[in-house]
Amino acid sequence: MALSNIKRIAISTGGGDAPGLNAVIRAAVLAALNRGWECYGIRDGYTGLLLPEQYVEGGMMRLTRDRVRGITHLGGTIIGTTNRNNPTQYPITDKDGNISYIDRTDELVRSFMLHHIDALVTVGGDGSLAIANVLAQKGLRVVGVPKTIDNDLDRTVVTFGFDTAVAFATECLDRLHSTAASHGRVMVVEVMGRYAGWIAVNAGVAGSADVILIPEIPYNLQNVIAKIKEREEHGYNFTIVIVAEGAKPQGGDVTVKAKSVGQAERLGGVGEKVAADLQELTGKETRVVVLGHLLRGGSPTSQDRLIALRFGAAAVRALEEGQSGIMIALDPPNVNYVPLEEVAGRMRAVPLDCDTMMTARDLGICFGD
Ligand code: F6P
Repeated sequence: MALSNIKRIAISTGGGDAPGLNAVIRAAVLAALNRGWECYGIRDGYTGLLLPEQYVEGGMMRLTRDRVRGITHLGGTIIGTTNRNNPTQYPITDKDGNISYIDRTDELVRSFMLHHIDALVTVGGDGSLAIANVLAQKGLRVVGVPKTIDNDLDRTVVTFGFDTAVAFATECLDRLHSTAASHGRVMVVEVMGRYAGWIAVNAGVAGSADVILIPEIPYNLQNVIAKIKEREEHGYNFTIVIVAEGAKPQGGDVTVKAKSVGQAERLGGVGEKVAADLQELTGKETRVVVLGHLLRGGSPTSQDRLIALRFGAAAVRALEEGQSGIMIALDPPNVNYVPLEEVAGRMRAVPLDCDTMMTARDLGICFGD
């Protein structure tokens, strides 16, 4: 029995893309259409509503059965995404180039009403979920779906996109082993993950890295050098180091590539630094590989597809039940609902005593501490 009186919903995808976004869209759209609801995708986060004049075909995309056919396995998002134009802190540049920030959320809520949108399914990371929380508090009916390759969201066992990123990084480590061994080199592989080391830890353990450097454990390069020497003493002339982009040395800070208006700081470059220092301090030939955005592309793994499809369908069921201001979360074997205010603006780091970390230590993997 429908409690919701919903006739039309909108879907938005925000922040960095992650494999599985299209699967969420497909599941949400089909679940909604099967209830007799109409569906629209807002282009590029909320930009389709905030700056509709930018779009020749309009800022809203009608999502029909045909439009979502054959997209479950596709990376990216058919409605577009952005990590700019945050409606809670929208950047305005004056004629002298000075930047100030305004709150456009009231205008956004009005725009939903003008388009006769009864509810929103918003798919994103901590930033998008924080925006969703504000919109819910302003009276919009909202259900959030957690997404990020970084797996750094609280209150869900895992986010979709993470498994695909880990699988790809693991394959890269496998491939690097033979060339590292053949040349007797140190190979440093930098992976994304922001301020959490989930991708580095999971791919590092699965892909037999010798050293894993993560934001949760500031490193001392002398410990990494000791590991390289220890391997040499055992007859292994090569070492594989995986470093999370947010890793930092003891007493030091993260390496930042750029900071631009209305966006979080862009991490990156720590791999290059670690490789240069290791080469200088050990005299061993060292190479660096930065996986970067390759981790966000490609077809989602079957696990990510399933989680994404389950999240999309669950979001529509939640709306039908009259829920709002909640995030769908994975709580195996089920999904459940978590209040948005409990996840907004919070991040989840790798617990240092978790089983995967203990396994890594048991395998003799060095964390630079
Ligand atoms: O949050 C996902 C993520 O890929 C992070 O791992 C990374 O730091 C960031 O997005 C990169 O963002 P951008 O797309 O702006 O380069």
